[in-house]
Amino acid sequence: MARNIVFYWCPVCNSVVELVENGGHSLVCCGQPMERLKVKEKGEGSEYHLPSLKHRDGLLYVNVGSKPHPQSEDHHIKFIVFVTKQTVRRSDIKSNSMATAVYTDKDHGDVYAYCSTHGLWKTSF
Ligand SMILES: [Fe+2]
Repeated sequence: MARNIVFYWCPVCNSVVELVENGGHSLVCCGQPMERLKVKEKGEGSEYHLPSLKHRDGLLYVNVGSKPHPQSEDHHIKFIVFVTKQTVRRSDIKSNSMATAVYTDKDHGDVYAYCSTHGLWKTSF
């Protein structure tokens, strides 16, 4: 089982933060509370956003979506995060780049993909 990870978003400036340790207080950005990002695991748009996983030769290959996601400046997958019980590994994805990542595959975990327009998606294995 992967460790629990939570992401927050600022509706004013679009900043996204990852909460490492919850001290029990709310996060504030641009003078107002940040919103906890909801995690989607299915539903409309999943074919473009759900992380698709392939295991081969001890590596985990992540490809976001079964169909290619747009990677334009204003709408793209911004990062992929692989979370296990012990580790959190993030790959930043630039616009005009493929929404893919490769990690070593020694543990089960959760793989998140964040779209600048459609939010946070997760696949577990
Ligand atoms: Fe999207």
